[in-house]
Amino acid sequence: MSRPFLCERLMPVVGILVALVFSPIVHAADAGRAQEQAQRQQTQPGNNAPMWRDVRGGVKQTTQVRGVETNVLMQPSGQSWREVRPPMSLAGGLLIAAALLALFAFYQWRGPIGVHEAGTGKLIKRFSDAERLTHWTVAISVCILAVTGLILSFGKYMLLPIIGYTLFSWLAMFAKNLHNFVAPVFFFMLPVMIVLFVRDNLPGPGDLKWLLTFGGMFSKSGHETPSGRFNMGEKALFWFMVCALGVVLCLSGAVMLFPNFDQGRQIMQSANIVHVISALVMIFAASFHIYLGTVGQRGAYEGMRTGYVDETWAKEHHQLWYDQVKAGHARQHFADDAPDAVRAQVADGLKA
Ligand code: HEM
Repeated sequence: MSRPFLCERLMPVVGILVALVFSPIVHAADAGRAQEQAQRQQTQPGNNAPMWRDVRGGVKQTTQVRGVETNVLMQPSGQSWREVRPPMSLAGGLLIAAALLALFAFYQWRGPIGVHEAGTGKLIKRFSDAERLTHWTVAISVCILAVTGLILSFGKYMLLPIIGYTLFSWLAMFAKNLHNFVAPVFFFMLPVMIVLFVRDNLPGPGDLKWLLTFGGMFSKSGHETPSGRFNMGEKALFWFMVCALGVVLCLSGAVMLFPNFDQGRQIMQSANIVHVISALVMIFAASFHIYLGTVGQRGAYEGMRTGYVDETWAKEHHQLWYDQVKAGHARQHFADDAPDAVRAQVADGLKA
């Protein structure tokens, strides 16, 4: 008889012997538990605490689910996840409220940052069409994601008591679907934004001085610290908000959006915590950017909307870049061919 054939024959016999030796021990333990449970049912009917303790302790049970969570009847870290969410959302909500209050106070004190001299009417093409299209696609998608995300995070506490279950359930479903369908737009456009804007957000001359003086933002009548095409504040926001938080948001969102890769609830919960924290910090950071891009600084919004800025705006807000444009060393250039409608918009943007 060959050796493999012998092994094949002997294996079942060994298995039966092992089972015979150990089964009394296992059965004795089971019998002990069953007896304990039977006694408990006498004194405390309906109390299945030992069984649930086992389930919570991670003792494998039997489920019909196939995949990474086979035989996991209860996932105890779900409880920790549930407990950690409300204080985390509250902290994020307070952070955003603090940012809005700070911006409101700053606006009351400083007002819109304007230019000291009148516009010359000579325009510079500051943003290419690709840059503007990318910027607005990302900006609009982030705004939609932020509003729908806030409805999903805070709606239960802040909207449900006011608008009631019928309207809130509709709103929550709408917000969830919109969030899920807009997310891919952000996912695919974010890398494009990084590629288009990274070059002018690399460290350059004037950055340190801008940082040390905070760009002159807090001197009410003062002039801005000279900067390149983007100042150090914009660069910090680019690296922190766009590159770091944007990428973390995309990756953590993808983990939750595609649950079909066998990642399991525990990983999804961790992704959810990372996603919520980075989203709240992103909204906090974006509020400063949006403030300066709209009511906080005259002429900036028109620059991103039309692509053109007035020479005076460039000189006063980004002097080093303006010098480069004038010397013909920048990729951006003076634009004598700007349409009249654009000229009017840019001039309007500078007016007090
Ligand atoms: C309604 C929302 C927004 C408004 C009104 C807005 C407005 C503006 C404006 C006016 C500029 C031009 C600033 C300049 O000329 O120096 C700008 C630049 C820029 N914005 Fe926005 N923005 C918004 C949302 C966003 C969001 C959500 C992101 C990214 C997640 C973003 C990323 C950028 C980037 C990368 C630049 C170029 C400056 C740099 O690279 O540092 N913006 N934005």
